[in-house]
Amino acid sequence: MVEYNARVDEVAGAIMDRVREVLVEKKVDYTEYKAFLQWAREATETVDWRVFIDNFFEWTIELNTYKNVDGSEGTVEGPYFIPDASLLTEKPFVMPMRPNEPGVPMVLNGEVRRLNGEPISGAHIDLWQADDGGRYAGFDFAEPRFNLRARLHTNEQGRFQVRTIQPAPYQIPTSGPVGRFLEMIGSHAWRPAHFHLIVTAEGCQTLTTQLYFRGGDWVDGDVSNAVKDSLIVDVLEDKDEEVASWYGLTVPFRSVNYVFELRPTEA
Ligand code: BEZ
Ligand code: FE
Repeated sequence: MVEYNARVDEVAGAIMDRVREVLVEKKVDYTEYKAFLQWAREATETVDWRVFIDNFFEWTIELNTYKNVDGSEGTVEGPYFIPDASLLTEKPFVMPMRPNEPGVPMVLNGEVRRLNGEPISGAHIDLWQADDGGRYAGFDFAEPRFNLRARLHTNEQGRFQVRTIQPAPYQIPTSGPVGRFLEMIGSHAWRPAHFHLIVTAEGCQTLTTQLYFRGGDWVDGDVSNAVKDSLIVDVLEDKDEEVASWYGLTVPFRSVNYVFELRPTEA
């Protein structure tokens, strides 16, 4: 027996009232209703249903939850996170990638701190990204499932450094129901290139965020509405010979830096 839930009644009731209002106002008929049922049936057969909901609604939930809070801004998780990526332990950290993974090498430098500036040693980072063709492992190709996905911890100074490739912008799926829908509403399907990160540490609230590259395509005009100014990083032409030698790179190589400030867990 499921108990009465006042919150479900309140929110779902309001959504259904608004939907009915629109159906009446727009005089939606059976032809359109059946087209919608067919579209929804197809969408729920693949990851499209999740892409659709995350694309159109997650940014609103994220703002409701985290607007005007202290510390680093977060943004949407999106549908492409896969838990339990391998934990990097051997330094220097390198993202798991295929032999000859295409793409421009990039070093991501991060620092995790409390709001008072204290570095957090042993913070846990989940990092995932699209490849140089804008494809996510486990979705756009099956194997290796954890390509360009990893977990790692910060060092004693609260820092981490990982060598990867610069991700490319990508389109949310265009060939299925979501793509048809975007075309019908006259929208493109592009997301700007980004890294995804989930940062967790004891005594702190989890930060789910993304980092974008200044000047990159679609940073202005993200289909998912998930870009925030504070999440746009400069791509540096890094001349650090020592770091280059650790990773077998030549200088200058591309790098980005970001400081993650975590809020304390609410008492
Ligand atoms: C993403 O960042 O991976 C994403 C977010 C929302 C919708 C689709 C993809
Ligand atoms: Fe993404």
